[in-house]
Amino acid sequence: MKKIVLSLLLVIVATSLSAQAYVPTDENIKSREEFAEDRFGIFIHWGIYSMFAQGEWYLQNAGLNRDEYAKAADAFYPHRFDAKEWVAAIKASGARYLCFTTRHHDSFSMWDTDESDYNIVDATPYGRDVLKEIAKECKKQDIKLHLYYSHADWSRDEYPRGRTAKMVTGRDSTKINWPEYYDFMNRQITELLTDYGPVRAIWFDGWWDHDEDATPFDWQLDEQYALVHKLQPSCLVANNHHQVPFEGEDIQIFERDLPGENTHGLSGQAISRLPLETCQTMNGMWGYKVIDQNYKSVETLVRYLVSAAGKGANLLLNVGPQPNGELPAAAVERMKAMGEWLAVNGETIYGTVEGDIAQQAGGCTTRKGDRLFVHIFEFEGDKLILPLECEVVEAKTFADGAKVDYTMTNGGIVLHIGEVKDSVDYIVELRTK
Ligand code: GLC
Repeated sequence: MKKIVLSLLLVIVATSLSAQAYVPTDENIKSREEFAEDRFGIFIHWGIYSMFAQGEWYLQNAGLNRDEYAKAADAFYPHRFDAKEWVAAIKASGARYLCFTTRHHDSFSMWDTDESDYNIVDATPYGRDVLKEIAKECKKQDIKLHLYYSHADWSRDEYPRGRTAKMVTGRDSTKINWPEYYDFMNRQITELLTDYGPVRAIWFDGWWDHDEDATPFDWQLDEQYALVHKLQPSCLVANNHHQVPFEGEDIQIFERDLPGENTHGLSGQAISRLPLETCQTMNGMWGYKVIDQNYKSVETLVRYLVSAAGKGANLLLNVGPQPNGELPAAAVERMKAMGEWLAVNGETIYGTVEGDIAQQAGGCTTRKGDRLFVHIFEFEGDKLILPLECEVVEAKTFADGAKVDYTMTNGGIVLHIGEVKDSVDYIVELRTK
């Protein structure tokens, strides 16, 4: 009897231990703070899908045979790939970090993994570990490295089938084996966090593949997140599940919408107190899509970045490199222009927090200490009324420090701004008490 009681007690202790709330380490908290200060990152979607030039979902969208699709690897020779150029373009954009797709839903690994031959070193004539080169350049050029890693897998036999890729053929369903797939992922994650230097974030994606299962699917995330934190305590765990953050996550992600908005149907979830990030495409696709030349204008992109900052969020802006390894010229041009804008106005973006006044169609606000930056995108008339609760002791244009007349009323502050000269973002700086 004693024995039974004892083992029961042990079971209770063990379960309560594993159910313990996640407490981020000091390194992790510091990393979160640095992440939030950065405000701008570049997302890179690149893989053998780039060769089909139809976006990264081509395998599933076209319902291809897995093995036929995989033949593309044998022709992947991105002779214009130059990690130095990529990272220099990212640096020039004013972005402070890069998130690279190490393994997307198609299952192809973009590094020299020992866990599968279906990778850029073993399966392509190119044979180079591009991740090694990228990691090295990031370090050199002081750009933080984040790694995208797909939970969902459309090629491996062991992966339990989810709601996507039902039309993909060639997979052997008799070999479905979750424990095997889970171990495979954890071994790959271990490689990524052991062999490539400091990784500031692991960006998971694909949880949603099982969000319609009759019995809730257990991804065993707790254990996986703990592994990430054990290998690199400062590494931030992110998961693009479109839900409020789960235990063990360090940042909250929004896809294609700013926090609190939901024009794409993926982002209605509540906003947590974790650092926030919105990922967005520069055209309409993540992976290279030859038909999609519908790039957003520099004005739209700058305003999106500013609006993200106004909501206290980072912008992770995507670029889909070409099959030859080059970043599309249209993307590089826009990145350069964003960098030029940030070189002048970055002080109102980097290291700021959400402003006092909620975003409106015509602009938003960001704050740094006692400085409140009013970003004006659209404005007609000569008086701008802002429902500000604090007292203002000074108002000037950010561009040249020219005094801006204002009056305080019960409803807030009235700025007499006259003609708005900068059509992208006219910034008024207020000093508040
Ligand atoms: C979605 C897509 C995926 C893309 C990701 C980026 O989850 O499935 O292809 O990589 O969004 O945010």
